[in-house]
Amino acid sequence: MSGRLICVADFEQHAKSILPKSVYDYYRSGADNQQTLADNVAAFSRLKLYPRMLRDVSIMDLSTSVLGEKISMPICVGATAMQRMAHVDGETATSRACREMGTGMMLSSWATSSIEEVAQVAPEGLRWLQLYIYKDREVTRSLVQRAERAGYKGIFVTVDTPLLGKRLDDVRNKFQLPPHLRMKNFETNDLAFSSEKGYGEDSGLAVYVAQAIDPSIKWEDIQWLRRLTSLSIVAKGILRADDAREAIKCGVNGILVSNHGARQLDGVPATIDVLSEIFEAVEGKVEVFLDGGVRRGTDVLKALALGAKAVFIGRPVIWGLACQGEEGAKEVLQILREEFRLAMALSGMPSWPKILHSLTNRSWSNRPIKTSITSSYRLSPTAKRLSK
Ligand SMILES: Cc1cc2nc3c(=O)[nH]c(=O)nc-3n(C[C@H](O)[C@H](O)[C@H](O)COP(=O)(O)O)c2cc1C
Repeated sequence: MSGRLICVADFEQHAKSILPKSVYDYYRSGADNQQTLADNVAAFSRLKLYPRMLRDVSIMDLSTSVLGEKISMPICVGATAMQRMAHVDGETATSRACREMGTGMMLSSWATSSIEEVAQVAPEGLRWLQLYIYKDREVTRSLVQRAERAGYKGIFVTVDTPLLGKRLDDVRNKFQLPPHLRMKNFETNDLAFSSEKGYGEDSGLAVYVAQAIDPSIKWEDIQWLRRLTSLSIVAKGILRADDAREAIKCGVNGILVSNHGARQLDGVPATIDVLSEIFEAVEGKVEVFLDGGVRRGTDVLKALALGAKAVFIGRPVIWGLACQGEEGAKEVLQILREEFRLAMALSGMPSWPKILHSLTNRSWSNRPIKTSITSSYRLSPTAKRLSK
């Protein structure tokens, strides 16, 4: 691509032109008909902003905290597996980029760099581990203990993946890791999703998940995890108010409203469309975060206005990595930061507490909103029923 890359879409377009097709397909795809994949982005566009004027935005403060840890902006990096397919430095580059930008990184259990390596390259950085619960609980226990020892600040336990969603491109491509790479957090080939092991005609990753991940996990397993570690725990993949309440009962410290980047059950709502009802159900007991479809600074602002403490981005960082490694990942974060800063300023919101203040004046049910920066947002009859 000629010219500068100045927004997330530019990075994706360029990444597409340089990545091998099966790798680009793996990173980009959603499940089945990819309805939710499109909706994650479209739902942000449907939501309108109602800015305040003449509110002195000459000094801006974008900083906030996640689970008690201060960060420079409410934009963090979510877990995306196998980043060394995008760039030779993979997760270590992302780790450095996050440290440079003063924000946090969630490392996938399925990283192509180990928990310890990622910590070593940016010791002062803020990190959390994304966790899958393996059939063999000792594998899971060991991941948690290694994260504790390496100074990770929390565990994001993925609750939406008893099996892998069907991503058609991965099935067609019989997706596998290239031979020189493996999931670095596991000793044995069986657990490392290495190409040394054959996976047949299907998406290799789907076969791997069916073999290794426990489809019988239940809320009791979250209680088990709670007893296992004193680190903060966030339930990643919540889409309903009742599940959010259940997670809180199990002792989690946060809820990540997520549909796994639309890669699991197709046809679920866009995350931004369910955020407010989950935020309400949580009643301020734990922090609420969102991921899925965040591509612009205005998306970040909309998520904050509807209750998210911070957002996580998945694919945009992969595109940054693919284009320019650590510098590209950093540039993507920088672009989103500047877009978010501009969106805050143009909305008359010089700092984050002021956004919170506007939230207190809004109603989530059937009353029209008097003072809010987002468009009137009514719960659908289905959403109301689900939130009871
Ligand atoms: C290529 C890719 C790999 C992912 N790997 C994981 C993973 O290993 N564990 C997990 O919990 N979520 C994983 N996710 C989901 C992300 O953590 C996140 O929920 C999603 O990417 C957010 O949506 P966005 O990509 O639209 O920003 C992955 C997503 C993508 C796109």
